Amino acid sequence: MRPNFTDSLMLKNQLSPTYDEFYDWVTSGYKAKINIHRSKGRVVETNEIFTSLDIVMYGLELAYPTEFFKDPTILYSDNCVGEGAWLVGMALLRMKNGLTHEEAINNLRGIDIMIDNIDACRERLLCNKEKLRPIVEQNIYHHSKGALKFSYNFCPMTITRRTREDKLRKKLEKEKLKAQKATQEKQNFERVFNVKDSKKKSTNR
Ligand SMILES: C[S@@+](CC[C@H](N)C(=O)[O-])C[C@H]1O[C@@H](n2cnc3c(N)ncnc32)[C@H](O)[C@@H]1O
Repeated sequence: MRPNFTDSLMLKNQLSPTYDEFYDWVTSGYKAKINIHRSKGRVVETNEIFTSLDIVMYGLELAYPTEFFKDPTILYSDNCVGEGAWLVGMALLRMKNGLTHEEAINNLRGIDIMIDNIDACRERLLCNKEKLRPIVEQNIYHHSKGALKFSYNFCPMTITRRTREDKLRKKLEKEKLKAQKATQEKQNFERVFNVKDSKKKSTNR
């Protein structure tokens, strides 16, 4: 019997992505799902400047022998994971060297103080394979007090941890809306009072 549309979607969701599919997802695809607003103040506070994937892959290949990427038991971690550039690079090189997507992401660990970075990193590694969500929820860990104060006990997701994460997501969402409103008000003010034009005129003098 031919699978119907829903069945084939489910089947696709279960299949391991190819290297090319995973590469497209981690470089551009995930951005449609996760779009993080980072104010200047936030970037200064948290030092959120991410490594480009090309540099990561070049660096990893330079630092380790090929055998390193073929062994799925090796644990690879980033204490300040951000959107997961180094973990993603490691997963890509593992897939390039014959490991499946699940094997490639299974032994990766990441910590960050910002919950939206954790979400981005999880989604990026997950590549829409929902079946693997428990792996990334366990291993990509949000810790408000920072990596130096983390126990490094990567335990499976609990209701308490999920509730705590959800609260932080709501808080960030509120801050984002507040910032958008402030920008809008500033633009309206400048339009009504022609602030930009008068600023330009005064600098031209
Ligand atoms: C410079 S970025 C590097 C991200 C990633 N490693 C990369 O190379 O693209 C630093 C990251 O560390 C996070 N961070 C800052 N202070 C931290 C801390 N005390 N513990 C864990 N993460 C922290 C920030 O939120 C940010 O995502």
